[in-house]
Amino acid sequence: MPRESGAGERRVALVPKVAERLIAKGLDIVVESEAGLAALIPDQHYTDVGATIGNPWDADVVVKVAPPTDEEIAKLGRGTTLVGFLAPLAHPEVVQKLDAAGVRAFAMESIPRISRAQSMDALSSQANVAGYKAVLLAADRSTRFFPMLTTAAGTVKPATALVLGVGVAGLQALATAKRLGARTTGYDVRPDVADQVRSLGAQWLDLGIEAAGEGGYARELTEDERAEQQKRMTEAITGFDVVITTALVPGRPAPRLVTAEAVRGMRAGSVIIDLAGETGGNCELTEPGEIVVKHDVTIASPLNLPATMPEHASELYSRNISALLELMIDEEGRLAPDFSDEVLDKSCVSGKGEPTGGES
Ligand code: NAI
Repeated sequence: MPRESGAGERRVALVPKVAERLIAKGLDIVVESEAGLAALIPDQHYTDVGATIGNPWDADVVVKVAPPTDEEIAKLGRGTTLVGFLAPLAHPEVVQKLDAAGVRAFAMESIPRISRAQSMDALSSQANVAGYKAVLLAADRSTRFFPMLTTAAGTVKPATALVLGVGVAGLQALATAKRLGARTTGYDVRPDVADQVRSLGAQWLDLGIEAAGEGGYARELTEDERAEQQKRMTEAITGFDVVITTALVPGRPAPRLVTAEAVRGMRAGSVIIDLAGETGGNCELTEPGEIVVKHDVTIASPLNLPATMPEHASELYSRNISALLELMIDEEGRLAPDFSDEVLDKSCVSGKGEPTGGES
């Protein structure tokens, strides 16, 4: 496990507890010196569980959080296996470079969303962190309380929170806003999630547009549908103090759900947290990575919320990584991925045919 090089990336791919389990399964774990420092894990915690501190780039398998930089790809030998987030849809050039370097790469984003692979679903584990943290940011920026307050000085009404896109991040945002005392509402174009929204004590907002796609994802809306959705959303959004947006169609620009006109119609002091900034944002006025105030509405678009909670985000991510690794090793701890397994077949995005370091 190398040290993450990306600015602000505080997560690690393996926490000591998970490294210990892998060592018990017969793997040797090599950790780059100070790899865990940003997550407040000193080298000693790794050596205590039997890992060694050394050069991670010569290992048979390199595990990472963020996609590798060009310099990091240059350190990966032909036949090495790389496991991590590789942004295969957003930045296909990374996979192309890995392929050219003869690296066998497994992208955590490409793990199919099937029940058997849930323990490896890193997009979901990290989206949970993002959905939770988005609500805390909204509460911090809001000029109003989330819960109802009954005080000697009078009663304060609870805040109303609307979550657009109720996949993993959205459901966690609904649950978190509810725990803080807000009145919650969820919206999505996949009608089958309405029951999940209601089971979290939230209302379901029905704008009459359905767009369920394949593999549990939504399809992109047609232009007419999008225009209609924006029009109806502009009317619906005016009553909400907090809007968390998480709408995503994999590999496509973020769907525009909230127009500038819709923001203008919101009450002064309201807050929008747009989680889809990485792909352009769900709100027309979003500036990815920035916090802006437009028409007296705060619009924040944080880009890597999981990195702001490195302890639990790393713990969950490590378990995802370890579950995938366990699927590709045999009983002696040797690397032997079987590509007739759908999970390995789909998540391997380069070098499937390469002989690997572990087999040579
Ligand atoms: P997901 O795929 O589980 O959920 C996305 C939801 O959006 C789905 O329920 C889908 O039906 C819905 N959707 C798609 N098009 C829509 C439309 N036109 N109108 C309404 N709903 C629509 O994705 P997940 O894992 O929950 O991630 C959500 C978003 O959060 C993604 O954009 C992801 O990149 C982002 N994210 C951001 C992070 C950050 O720190 N900013 C960290 C983790 C995730």
